[in-house]
Amino acid sequence: MAAVVLIGAQWGDEGKGKITDFLAEKAELVVRYQGGNNAGHTVVAHGQEFKLHLIPSGILYENKTCVIGNGVVLDPKVLLEELSYLKECGVKTGQLLISSNAQVIMPYHRLLDGLEEDARGEHKIGTTKRGIGPAYMDKSARIGIRVGDLIDEEEFAAKLKRNLADKNNLLTKLYGAEPLEYEEIFNEYREYALKLKAFVADSSLVIDQSIQSGEKVLFEGAQGTLLDLDHGTYPYVTSSHPIAGGACIGAGIGPTRIQRVVGVAKAYTTRVGEGPFPTELRDQTGMMLQERGHEFGTTTGRARRCGWFDAVIVRYAARVNGLTDLALTKLDVLTGIEKIRIGVGYRLGNEVIYEFPQSQKIFRDSVPVYEEVPGWSEDITGVRRFEDLPEAAKLYIERVEQLTGVPVTLVAVGPGREQTIVRESIF
Ligand code: IMP
Repeated sequence: MAAVVLIGAQWGDEGKGKITDFLAEKAELVVRYQGGNNAGHTVVAHGQEFKLHLIPSGILYENKTCVIGNGVVLDPKVLLEELSYLKECGVKTGQLLISSNAQVIMPYHRLLDGLEEDARGEHKIGTTKRGIGPAYMDKSARIGIRVGDLIDEEEFAAKLKRNLADKNNLLTKLYGAEPLEYEEIFNEYREYALKLKAFVADSSLVIDQSIQSGEKVLFEGAQGTLLDLDHGTYPYVTSSHPIAGGACIGAGIGPTRIQRVVGVAKAYTTRVGEGPFPTELRDQTGMMLQERGHEFGTTTGRARRCGWFDAVIVRYAARVNGLTDLALTKLDVLTGIEKIRIGVGYRLGNEVIYEFPQSQKIFRDSVPVYEEVPGWSEDITGVRRFEDLPEAAKLYIERVEQLTGVPVTLVAVGPGREQTIVRESIF
């Protein structure tokens, strides 16, 4: 029995796609448990680059079962486009299963995401405008349409009618927008339902049976710890639970089933959208990281804000996720920087704090306290063993381990599957 949860230890975009793809090779089942097509995974496989938003990265292996769990908000149009994109690329995809309890993103969710963002003015969150927040709002309000409803024509018609009456009120009266047409949406989504029906399953049962029979299961979180609705930098967060605990709720398994929790952290820090980011670099080094790290969003194309590695937030991620391992990605991007900085605490007036603050006001106003470590200039993209890394790179990794309290088990030195240093196998 081996169930591993893989999560983002920062603000998302840590390179989870690559690590999931790497670990998926050994897993029989790969499960996505939250978020939707706000996520974007870039995976390089078969010498080709793939950009996925919704389908678990494990799909690139022919013999894997990939599950979209109940905690996901699913845009059927995007899912079907992704499936045909993979087909066009000539990838023989594995088997896909969709939880009948996953929530469906509707056209009014996408529309409202944009309108709500615009209405926030200077307090905007910087959402991906994919309808994620509004779809989770409907889930909490207990009016959401689930995949199981979508494939049941009568149920879908009734729920869509009820919802649309409310949403059109909101659209026209609050936002002065045009109302949406019932027939149009119904017909569009009926087509999706017919195409997706064959994939729908009781995914919690499938996952449980797989774990019980001794198969290896990988739970893949989207976004990252600091975007978690409860534990992230609220309100600049997403509307789901990317932390490891989210896997239990979003996949329908109990915490006792999980053996290992791997946190993926970039060797520096990035953030998309609004919100505080103490170690952000608004200088040449920040621009260099952005360029060399190709720090532009897979989903929205937005430039990611870049900064030094912040050990406080990754130690916090270790706590709220119960991390057993760290996968440190993009170490090669730091090559050539003479002196590398690591954020080790935050200064507030005369006080220095070493734990992630509970108050977002404190986080916003804090100034990072740095430690400086020597950099390296050797090309490390071809290194496959920890021992062969330059001394300074080894010291950097060891310092990350000391500051976060988590062993760095995997190190990524490039985007390719093979550009990974394994210090201990996860499965
Ligand atoms: P939403 O998830 O579209 O509602 O966006 C809420 C916040 O989460 C915004 O700051 C987004 O930029 C951020 N966000 C959502 N998904 C991702 C992701 O996959 N990577 C990084 N940031 C994300």
